[in-house]
Amino acid sequence: MIILKSKDEIATMRRAGQIVARAHELVANMIRPGITTAQIDCAVEEFLVKNGAIPAFKGYQGYPATVCASVDEVVVHGIPNDEVLKEGSIIGVDIGAFVDGFCGDSAWTYPVGFVTDEVKKLLEVTEKALFAGIEQAIIGNRLSDISNAIQTIVEENGFSVVRDFVGHGIGRKMHEDPQVPNFGPPGRGPRLKAGMTLALEPMVNMGSHHVQVCEDNWTVVTRDKSFSAHFEHTVAITDDGPMILTVL
Ligand code: MF3
Ligand code: CO
Repeated sequence: MIILKSKDEIATMRRAGQIVARAHELVANMIRPGITTAQIDCAVEEFLVKNGAIPAFKGYQGYPATVCASVDEVVVHGIPNDEVLKEGSIIGVDIGAFVDGFCGDSAWTYPVGFVTDEVKKLLEVTEKALFAGIEQAIIGNRLSDISNAIQTIVEENGFSVVRDFVGHGIGRKMHEDPQVPNFGPPGRGPRLKAGMTLALEPMVNMGSHHVQVCEDNWTVVTRDKSFSAHFEHTVAITDDGPMILTVL
């Protein structure tokens, strides 16, 4: 069941989203060769708690940290650790937080120092795919119009869309209906209505779309060890078009 939100509820989600966006700003300023993902996790947890937000991931189905930190061939759900980031790597940082009972969820993939042109293109295309999906988050469209827009941009550029993980409805819970795949034909699924709130989150691989879960039962990696990028925004569908909640 898709839970529609009132204007007031969306305003609260906007505040949650804003704090998540500020946490990303903090992260963007920390990323450089030599830092560890555990340091990022620590800084984000401190920031969220100081601002009255509750980290959404910590303890979620036993997840042990505040952020997911997914380096290079890690697609999503990388657990922060004490390994230092190296020049030429990429790191996806996923942050979720509750404010006054509502959740904001957003991920961004950052280059570590200088990266190759092909890696730069991976980041650009994945971000572009997210925004192409957001553009389709309008009243009257069907859900899979979002999915199809994302897949089209990714595949036009020679990359592949992860199938095994999807975006999701979001609200009082981090994961609500509907699931939002990042691939598929247009014109399918529920019609989009004002008050729907969705986390759109394309995961894009440089090589094949196949992924596997590691022995820690969290870390998702590409099967061919190619780099993978992840961008996510929480978005509300409104009478005035898509409203991105996880921005400053
Ligand atoms: N953005 C991710 C999601 O929507 C974050 C979940 S990580 C978890 O599923 F640890 F909380 F599961
Ligand atoms: Co999400």
